[in-house]
Amino acid sequence: MKLGILVSGRGSNLQAIVDAIESGKLPCSISIVISDREKAYALERCKKHHIPHVVIKRKDFGNVQDFEEELIRSLRQAQVDLVVLAGFMRILSAHFIRAFPMKIINIHPSLTPAFVGKDAQKQALEYGVRITGCTVHLVTEELDSGPVIVQACVPVLPDDTEETLSERILAYEHRVLPQAIRWMAEGRVKVEGRKVQVIGAKY
Ligand code: GRF
Repeated sequence: MKLGILVSGRGSNLQAIVDAIESGKLPCSISIVISDREKAYALERCKKHHIPHVVIKRKDFGNVQDFEEELIRSLRQAQVDLVVLAGFMRILSAHFIRAFPMKIINIHPSLTPAFVGKDAQKQALEYGVRITGCTVHLVTEELDSGPVIVQACVPVLPDDTEETLSERILAYEHRVLPQAIRWMAEGRVKVEGRKVQVIGAKY
């Protein structure tokens, strides 16, 4: 399965995917990485691992639609089978989502539908939950709340700061994202309405 990965920053989730592919645990290849920020550290990781990458910045386009058209064009040109949002810090329009129906997944640092949108870890701390986590979901037109493929629970500890909690959640993101991609690549993810069944998954 050919992946197109959208990033905006550090790219540690991208690195987890690269590591899974390089160690033979993920039967996929990365056709293209697209960053909307030229300073994203994710791009350094692409250079190091010889992964095709491109920067497409919103400000280089007159409107969001033209920006998204360029994203769609690049992903189609790279013939991607699955689009992975791995720390891509923009909300994509219905137009983009409809271009790859049920072929876009996102990693979000909370147990959705709780704490969607920005600063999910801070929202969890402020709310006072004892357990939060991360979610890989299919991207639909609802923000951070499409059908759930996999979630991992992470405890919130009494002395947590946004930083310590984010770090604890991130370690789980790095496990569940490659796992969800593998399930997609193996054709085991069946979606019925809101519900996802992963054929043969052991929970
Ligand atoms: C992760 O916490 C991800 O869940 C969120 O943005 C962060 C990206 O981290 N959407 P990285 O760029 O993959 O290191």
